[in-house]
Amino acid sequence: MISAIIGAQWGDEGKGKIVDLLSKDAKIVARFQGGANAGHTVYYNNQKIVLHQIPSGILRDNCECILGNGMVVDPIGLVDEIKMVESYGVKCMDNIHIATNAHIVTPIHKEIDLASEKASNNKIGTTGRGIGPTYVDKYDRNGLRASELGDESYIITHLQKKLDKSIKMGLIEASKEQDIKQMFPNFISACQQIHKHVSDVFRLLHESKGNILIEGAQGTLLDIDHGTYPYVTSSNASSAGIGTGLGFPMNKVDSIIGIFKAYTTRVGKGPFPTELFDNYGKTIRDVGKEYGATTGRERRCGWFDGVAAKYTCLANGFTDIALTKLDVLDGFDSIKVCTHYEINGEQTSSFSKLINQLDLVKPIYERIDGWDSPTAGVTNYCELPENAKIYIDYLSRLMNTKISIISTGPGRNEIIKIN
Ligand code: GDP
Ligand code: IMO
Ligand code: MG
Repeated sequence: MISAIIGAQWGDEGKGKIVDLLSKDAKIVARFQGGANAGHTVYYNNQKIVLHQIPSGILRDNCECILGNGMVVDPIGLVDEIKMVESYGVKCMDNIHIATNAHIVTPIHKEIDLASEKASNNKIGTTGRGIGPTYVDKYDRNGLRASELGDESYIITHLQKKLDKSIKMGLIEASKEQDIKQMFPNFISACQQIHKHVSDVFRLLHESKGNILIEGAQGTLLDIDHGTYPYVTSSNASSAGIGTGLGFPMNKVDSIIGIFKAYTTRVGKGPFPTELFDNYGKTIRDVGKEYGATTGRERRCGWFDGVAAKYTCLANGFTDIALTKLDVLDGFDSIKVCTHYEINGEQTSSFSKLINQLDLVKPIYERIDGWDSPTAGVTNYCELPENAKIYIDYLSRLMNTKISIISTGPGRNEIIKIN
């Protein structure tokens, strides 16, 4: 069985928790895009662990974790992350595998990311992890790849050339040159440490006889092609990225599970039609602890956007949905779902038509009654309050896709599976 877990909104939908859950039966968990911009939260022995680059299957014994060719891998961050995970008693030295053709994030890319955000009049609100600039080099056919990590003199020459060029092009201030050069020894040491994890993951994937779980990062609305450009990340976060990012054809993928929160959040800049600026938004942020797992930034919060959701279902071909953070809506007297956008006095439910005008749309809502007893920690569908079932059923019908997993808390066992 080959399944993919895909973020269906603007990221942070709870992908880490669902991957951790489903990886129980997986032989391989593979990431296909993004890098350390991701922050996937998992609980291990009741301790919270945030993973940025290592796939969320790492907490399961004997699960092979693949960082696919579509990723941009940060060696310094990865070395730290391996140490962090091992400090919880998880052994991961032998089961992390990096594709030879994955691209490498250097300290220069991170500096360019930060400097370009600082200088821009139209900030994206990036995570500052060097993601965009590394993908720029990839597509400019100038990147450093994982297969080159064992060649110290090649890396030094590459870094020096890249630094000179970046200063010449005005991407980095000349005054920063020495500071950046001082980071090189640490970077080279990290490259040497992770080089032993680089291997032919293409074969590992294609020759596997066990279950494979494919872990998306970010979300479809942050996809470079299908998201709210330019306020997006620099990779294909939707299921379309799987083919290129792993060399694994889509006709081999049996199920594509879209992860949706029971409401919507966004971190960083960009349009967000259902964003709430009132007490409901504040309550969602407080109860849902909506602060970025990577940058700690406050997440913007709003009602479930059914217009966007229908679009991401179509763009990804979801076979199933996992609905997370239902418990955060416990205690609300009523809940709203956006069913249409209004623009120039006309209503539409087509997201693609208005994707470049989202700042101008007015969300049209349907109101649904809240529920009177908590869903938090419920593990059996029958035990959910009636109105919570009505809400779940409503969303499922709106998206024309079955909701087969419901998450009712951050813990590993706070989950309902519906067959
Ligand atoms: P990801 O990037 O998609 O993996 O999501 P994040 O880890 O960035 O953010 C999801 C947050 O919600 C984390 O703090 C999770 O521990 C938490 N979480 C996941 N599922 C649930 C849930 O059902 N209820 C609650 N209250 N928290 C959840
Ligand atoms: P996970 O995997 C939420 C957002 C940033 C910014 C934009 C571009 O945890 O869901 P980047 O650093 O990628 O160039 O930033 O994308 N962003 C995320 N938002 N969750 C993420 O990952 C994100 N990764 C990037 O906030 O708006
Ligand atoms: Mg996250």
